[in-house]
Amino acid sequence: MSQRKIYYFDNNATTRVAPEVVEAMLPYFTQQWGNPSSAYSFGHDLIKAIELAREKLAALIGCDAREVIFTSCGTESNNTAIHSALLTNPKKRHVLTTSVEHSANIKFCKHLESQGYEITRLPVERDGSLDLHLLAESIRTDTAIVSVMWANNETGVLFPIEEISAICQSRDVLFHTDAVQVAGKMKIDVQSLGVDFLSLSAHKLHAPKGIGVLYVKRRTPFQPYIIGGQQERGRRGGTENVPYIVAFGRAAELALEGIQDENTRVRRLRDRLEDFILQKIPDTTRNGARNERLPNTSNVAFGGVEAEAILLLLNQLDICASSGSACTTGSIEPSHVLSAMGLPPDLARSSVRFSLAKYNTEEDVDVLIQHLPGVIQRLRAESPVAAELTS
Ligand SMILES: Cc1ncc(COP(=O)(O)O)c(C=O)c1O
Repeated sequence: MSQRKIYYFDNNATTRVAPEVVEAMLPYFTQQWGNPSSAYSFGHDLIKAIELAREKLAALIGCDAREVIFTSCGTESNNTAIHSALLTNPKKRHVLTTSVEHSANIKFCKHLESQGYEITRLPVERDGSLDLHLLAESIRTDTAIVSVMWANNETGVLFPIEEISAICQSRDVLFHTDAVQVAGKMKIDVQSLGVDFLSLSAHKLHAPKGIGVLYVKRRTPFQPYIIGGQQERGRRGGTENVPYIVAFGRAAELALEGIQDENTRVRRLRDRLEDFILQKIPDTTRNGARNERLPNTSNVAFGGVEAEAILLLLNQLDICASSGSACTTGSIEPSHVLSAMGLPPDLARSSVRFSLAKYNTEEDVDVLIQHLPGVIQRLRAESPVAAELTS
C-alpha cells in the first residue's frame, strides 16, 4: 500500500519511529520473545539486551545506568517522581510546581489536592519565563518536591533548570524536571543539572509510544509507584517491555548523534517558517521568548482566526500541526499554557503550534509557506470579526 505524503509539523505530539529503531526492536517480537525473569536462558538472556539499552539511555543523559528506571511513559515517570517524594517525606505535604506543566503533572497535582496535599502553581511572565525569586520564596519547610518542566511542549520555552536545581539544593528539597520535550533536541547532563529526578518519553525521539524513563539520582530516597515483581531492581514492577526498551536504547543512540542536526538544520527550518509567518502574514505574533526556546518549536497566534479552523484546512492539504498540547486537542478551552502567559482567550484560541524534527525537509516548509497565507486569508474573509480586526 503506497502512503500519502504527509507534511508533519507536530513532532512535539509524537514522532515517526526511525527505521533503525524498528529494525532493532523487531527480533524481540519474532525471535527473542521470552520473559527476562525466567530461569532458562531463552528468557534470562534478554537481561543483557535490557542492560545494554539502559546504558544507552544513561549515555544520553550523562548518568550511571543504575540510575535509569524504565517506565511505561512520560506520564508515569512524572507521577512516580512526585509520588515517591511524598511517600519518602510523609510529613511534607506541599508540592511546588508551575502553571504551565503538561497535564501529566497538572492532573496528578489536582488529584493530590483532592487527597489533602497542598499545591503551589507558580505563574509565568508574558514571554513564558519564570520568576526565580518567587520560586525561591515559595519553597516551604513542608515542601516535599519542586517539579518544574525543562521545556514547554506548547511553546518550547525553556526554564533555567540548573539554577532552579541549585535553589532546591540550597534549601534541601527534592527537585524533579520533566525533560520529555528536551531529549533529542538538546544536550542533557544530569550531573551538571544536579536534579534528583528527570522524566523522558521515547515517542518524542523517534521510538514507539508506551515506554519512558525516570532518572533517579543515586542516594535519592525512592519508593515505587507500580508495585509488583522485582523488575527494575524492585523500583518498578511489571514484566519488562523488552522490544520497546531495546527500541528506546537505539533511539537514544541516534538522538545523541542527531543533536547537532537539530540545532542547526532543524533550527534553520523552524526559523525560516516562523520568520515567514511573522513577516508575511498580517496580525501574527509569536507566543514565547524568541531565544530561550527549543530549536524545533514555533507557536504563533493568528489574530481573529480560530486555530481549529486553520488546522482543519491544513488537514485537507495533508499538513499536520496542532493547537496547544495534543492531549487537550478537542477541548474548546483555551490552552492553559497560553492563558498562564496572559494571552486573552480569543488569542489563545487562535494559536497554532508547529514542531519540527529530523524528518522535516525544506520541501515541507515550502509547502506550508505556500498554503498558509491563503488559508488564513480565506478564514479571515469568512469571519466578520477577523475582517474588522485586519481592516
Ligand atoms: C512535556 C511533556 N511531559 C509529559 C508528556 C507525557 O508523555 P507520555 O505521552 O509518554 O505519557 C508529554 C507528552 O506530550 C509532554 O510533552
